[in-house]
Amino acid sequence: MKGALINMDIAIIYSSETGNTKMIAEAIKEELPKENIVYFGNATEEIPKADLYLIGSWTDKGNATNAIVDVLKKIKNKTIAYFGTAGYKESKMYYRKLFERVKSNIDSSNKILGYFYCQGKMPMQVKEKYERMMIQNPEDLHLKAMIKNFAKASTHPDYVDIANVKKWVQSKILNKK
Ligand SMILES: Cc1cc2nc3c(=O)[nH]c(=O)nc-3n(C[C@H](O)[C@H](O)[C@H](O)COP(=O)(O)O)c2cc1C
Repeated sequence: MKGALINMDIAIIYSSETGNTKMIAEAIKEELPKENIVYFGNATEEIPKADLYLIGSWTDKGNATNAIVDVLKKIKNKTIAYFGTAGYKESKMYYRKLFERVKSNIDSSNKILGYFYCQGKMPMQVKEKYERMMIQNPEDLHLKAMIKNFAKASTHPDYVDIANVKKWVQSKILNKK
């Protein structure tokens, strides 16, 4: 339903330290009409003027980055959709919990269209830290699960994640099936 967006200015604002969230932001951009996109890039002090905001962040200690939290807090009376990447586990429940955290920074005057999450690979230092902890506690099952998850995350975002986020844009943003 391109018609619904015809007069809408869209800003895509994201935080991405190692490129995972940027990859998702680019996939979102590809799905939207070019002529509507007024901003694509990092969070800035001054929020670009738009009607629809697609805001994305990597997960930093259970929340969006401070820069993105600041952006979310400043937006009022607009339409917002959120996208994120997270390393720790791939589960709908976990993503819901993460989004609840993010949502608490969004003013209630805004309309929220929805959210999308997928897994994102983590830096090697995280694995090295787990391995050092493993030497101390070789039988720690939680630690073993985290190391297994590190390997699982290491291929994401993958082509399925990209296809999924594009589908999400089609259904939640463009109202297509
Ligand atoms: C310092 C730090 C903290 C992190 N905290 C979390 C977290 O709380 N939950 C989570 O699921 N992933 C966490 N991650 C993993 C990142 O959110 C994940 O790898 C993300 O895809 C990175 O995105 P980017 O490439 O756009 O920076 C953390 C990573 C780092 C480096």
